Amino acid sequence: MMTITGPRTDTALADTNQHYDLDPEIFGLFLDPSRKYSCGLYRSETDTLADAQINKLRFVAERLGLRGGERLLDVGCGWGSLLLFMAREHACRATGISPAARQHAYISGRARELGVADQVSTWQGHFEEIDLPAGSFDAVTMLGSIVHMPDLTAVFARARALLRRGGTLYVSESCFRNAAAHGAFHRRAGTRFVGETIFGWGDMRPLSDLVRGAEDAGFSIVGLDDLTADYRRTIDDWLTNVRSATDDIERIRPGLTGELERYLEIANAGWGYTTKHYALTCRKTR
Ligand SMILES: C[S@@+](CC[C@H](N)C(=O)[O-])C[C@H]1O[C@@H](n2cnc3c(N)ncnc32)[C@H](O)[C@@H]1O
Repeated sequence: MMTITGPRTDTALADTNQHYDLDPEIFGLFLDPSRKYSCGLYRSETDTLADAQINKLRFVAERLGLRGGERLLDVGCGWGSLLLFMAREHACRATGISPAARQHAYISGRARELGVADQVSTWQGHFEEIDLPAGSFDAVTMLGSIVHMPDLTAVFARARALLRRGGTLYVSESCFRNAAAHGAFHRRAGTRFVGETIFGWGDMRPLSDLVRGAEDAGFSIVGLDDLTADYRRTIDDWLTNVRSATDDIERIRPGLTGELERYLEIANAGWGYTTKHYALTCRKTR
């Protein structure tokens, strides 16, 4: 049974491992083959979920301006889709961070299978606490992870400190559409079910909070993309996969299918009305 944890407003760290440390095979049953657990990018009516996730990784590489061989830090690396893609396609030296223990074993196995074990490494822990040398990365990415970090100011400042001058931070995140929607909806039952019962802690702050965090840390904002319609379609595809894999998911984790369906349906009900999904690109220009 899942642990229900209250909001951790008293601390700068949130515990979300109850979800991300579930058996990695569960995620293989409803995500794309790379197990990317964030918004895809659909370029045509016929794009599959797998196409959309590859499109999205190419889009991130474009926003970062990768030329090859960069030192990249992926904060909240999930099952390593971005690390492995950037190592293989762009010869990056890719480092991942995540507090969820099971993700690290999965990533190191995949890196060996794909022949990029010497380029890919991971650290287990919270980004807010991990000690890495200042200025040691050309690029930092956060896809769907800043939602789990209570202190935006500290997180943006830390990302900036880790980048070399001229380096780029890419963040994509789900947000309430403005401060009023955040105030009205973040304590509603559906939002709490997703944030607390599923994940342990999550807060979809409005884009203006992310922009303020980035600006206050000293970043220049160099790009903003609205990916709301793409996340709706991504979640539709995940829901279809959850429904067709019900028996297998239930075999691994009895009772999980209903919770996953409820969380994904709640997430998809809000797009464009109460919630948005944005990609924010920030540069350390000085
Ligand atoms: C929605 S998943 C996204 C995973 C990955 N970025 C992707 O696109 O597939 C969020 C990830 O953030 C990680 N995470 C949560 N809190 C974190 C923290 N404080 N520091 C680093 N990673 C964190 C979770 O363990 C999970 O791997």
